[in-house]
Amino acid sequence: MKEQLNGILETAKASILAADSEQSIEELRVKYLGKKGELTALLKQMGSLSPEERPKMGQLVNEAKAQVEALITDKAKELKEKATELKLKEETIDITMPAKAVKRGKLHPLNTVLNDMIDIFQSMGFDVVDGPEVETDHYNFECLNVPADHPARDMQDTFYLAENLLLRTQTSAAQIRTMETRKPPIRVICPGRVFRADEVDATHSPVFHQIEGLVVDKGITLCDLKGVLEQFAHEIYGSDTKVKFRPSFFPFTEPSVEVDVSCSECGGKGCRVCKGAGWIEILGAGMVHPNVLRSCGIDPEVYSGFAFGIGLDRLTTTRYKISDIRLLFENDKRFLEQF
Ligand code: DAH
Repeated sequence: MKEQLNGILETAKASILAADSEQSIEELRVKYLGKKGELTALLKQMGSLSPEERPKMGQLVNEAKAQVEALITDKAKELKEKATELKLKEETIDITMPAKAVKRGKLHPLNTVLNDMIDIFQSMGFDVVDGPEVETDHYNFECLNVPADHPARDMQDTFYLAENLLLRTQTSAAQIRTMETRKPPIRVICPGRVFRADEVDATHSPVFHQIEGLVVDKGITLCDLKGVLEQFAHEIYGSDTKVKFRPSFFPFTEPSVEVDVSCSECGGKGCRVCKGAGWIEILGAGMVHPNVLRSCGIDPEVYSGFAFGIGLDRLTTTRYKISDIRLLFENDKRFLEQF
């Protein structure tokens, strides 16, 4: 019986060590330690032994069972760890694999120029305000000193939504809304889309962009206007840019000026960009008309101010040498990707 026990123990040890899966180790557990297992069967044969031999043999079989049990537990643990390791290996993500390229969008050139302008004016203490694109006749014309029959209306024919409701022709309407809600000192710019019933061509579009500026305080003069606009032109076009103020007319300013800058392309000699003139007109401006101040409840005897309106599209086309304004609105990716 002792030899039988040793034989079982040897084969059990060998097969446990050779087991290569959690399933086979489980089968071995049943084979040796189960109710009908080989070691259990040995215990059942103990009846045939003499009373002196019985306890000795019993002890040997129990020791053998414990040994087999320990071996199986260790092996099972080892196999389980191996399986987990393998699973983890299979599931790892290869972080060195090239990812699908994400195409990054870009700012539209109009926005790039606008952001630069906002930076320049904010550094001079201006706030950025917003105004509605659908305006009333009152804000777009009346309060800006352009009454119903004024000839200046001809130049700004627009799209009417109702009797007194229109798509704004100029950001100047935002001046009025600002002066109605803020008290001087006022220093704001208002960028936005404007609309006019213009025929489309290389330099005209029924939708375009302006940046309105307004300063109102005690003691504001034309010198302040010149200083601010010169500073702006130098920052946007470079410090050697020459700035020219020409007398002009706007119903809402008196006196009014138009501002030209020396062509950044040819330096003033005359070229294709400036159409041979050497100068490029960039904005209209002037001292806020007393009637306009009065219509907003600001006393023109106490306060004065200046205003300006810059064409963003023109600034953008000249900066990037874009020959046709329509390119800015067509949203052709091949065009936009160049900036
Ligand atoms: N609103 C004018 C236009 O659309 C531009 C302009 C000129 C705005 C003079 C102003 C200004 O504020 O003072 O042509």
